[in-house]
Amino acid sequence: MSDQHSPVGILDSGIGGFSVVKQVQKLLPKEELLYFGDGAHIPYGNHPQELIVDMARYMFRFMEARGVKALLVACNTISCVLDRCAGALSCPVFSAVQAGADAAARLDADKIGVISTVFTHNSRIYPKKIQAQSPRKVVVLSCGCPDLAGLVEHSLGDPAGMARVEENLRLELDHMVLEDRVDCCVLGCTHYPLVADSIRRLYPGLPLIDPAEEMARSLKACLEEAGLLNPRTVPGSLTVYTTGGVAEYALRARQVGLERVAGVEFYPPMEL
Ligand code: DGL
Repeated sequence: MSDQHSPVGILDSGIGGFSVVKQVQKLLPKEELLYFGDGAHIPYGNHPQELIVDMARYMFRFMEARGVKALLVACNTISCVLDRCAGALSCPVFSAVQAGADAAARLDADKIGVISTVFTHNSRIYPKKIQAQSPRKVVVLSCGCPDLAGLVEHSLGDPAGMARVEENLRLELDHMVLEDRVDCCVLGCTHYPLVADSIRRLYPGLPLIDPAEEMARSLKACLEEAGLLNPRTVPGSLTVYTTGGVAEYALRARQVGLERVAGVEFYPPMEL
């Protein structure tokens, strides 16, 4: 049974969910955070649906066993299959896609671009949700990027790797931004906000929508309403679990600017 002092869980296939942790630490500094990144199996976005569902359930069970009071699915790809894997959870669950679609549907834009993993793109979940929620007639252009999340995962802070990220960004985004001239772009994979500075440099003036901010706001509203905000007076800490490399995750957490990292620990991956 969870209570005010229970942690908030945040999960992703890799370090992408760090973009969500950052916003939660900013908005809710007193909360205790538990992070799970499935570094052994990234990228999820190129896997078939059944496997994504199984791997997501594995992480959900981890969070359930630790009694989280809320769970942020900081992975758009898993958010696409949430109805198939979140049923057993006893806490409120927040979807990255729902947050991104909510934020996009409120915009005063006629043509919205979405970049995401191939799985999220193929699901058409963003165009469907944005068009269903927007009060205006809006065109949604979606682009699936097979390599971008994996490149971001392993390239932060490495000039050669970041050059490959920027080359890939141009390959995926040039047409949507320069030819189709979208009014804004939803970062429909949580890895992409981690390279938002590169995107801004390549496409100056293009408004970017990061679902992380909306997720943090929804979490705050939900905890407030349920009387579950942590009442402590000192800031909460963050513990990171990964099925990947502990040293790499510790480095990435520092590079992204995460605060109060109490530890980075290895957790055995689901066997495929
Ligand atoms: N960060 C994940 C997302 O938001 C995807 C990365 C991956 O393909 O594993 O979709």
